[in-house]
Amino acid sequence: MQYEVIEIKTVQTEKEGQLSFFEGEKTFPFSIKRIYYIHHVPAEARRGAHAHKTLEQMLFCPYGSVTIFLNNGENEEEILLDNPNIGIILKPGLWRDMRWNIDNSVLCVAASQYYDENDYIRDYDEYLEYIKNDKKGEIK
Ligand code: TYD
Repeated sequence: MQYEVIEIKTVQTEKEGQLSFFEGEKTFPFSIKRIYYIHHVPAEARRGAHAHKTLEQMLFCPYGSVTIFLNNGENEEEILLDNPNIGIILKPGLWRDMRWNIDNSVLCVAASQYYDENDYIRDYDEYLEYIKNDKKGEIK
């Protein structure tokens, strides 16, 4: 499956607490054009239910706990983001759902492109058709 779990560099600061950071192009396989975050979501809520045609993203949860469900049309995997030091890089073409495990968890996303609704596939049957055609041209 086309994703990678990464450890976000974290330092124990002189003052109380830890500080995590990542640096565009050093840490990532893409340069960051957009950052967005999803918040004020109650526990048990689910979001996502889409794939991207070209967008690359890095997801991380600086506060709380969110489960990411990934599906490539053949297999499903789930990744728990409940640690601010962990991120996942998602390659294009993965269907994803997210479930909020704890009220008000925050999901942050660093993305390779500006927002473009045309990059989304929001219908699962359309997604299956899309990857079928995609795989014809390119052996993955
Ligand atoms: P969406 O990506 O569907 O959210 P989720 O995957 O969490 O369910 O986006 C929700 C709405 O927000 C949708 O109407 C598009 C809008 N939106 C923007 O305007 N800009 C953005 O950068 C993003 C990610 C979404």
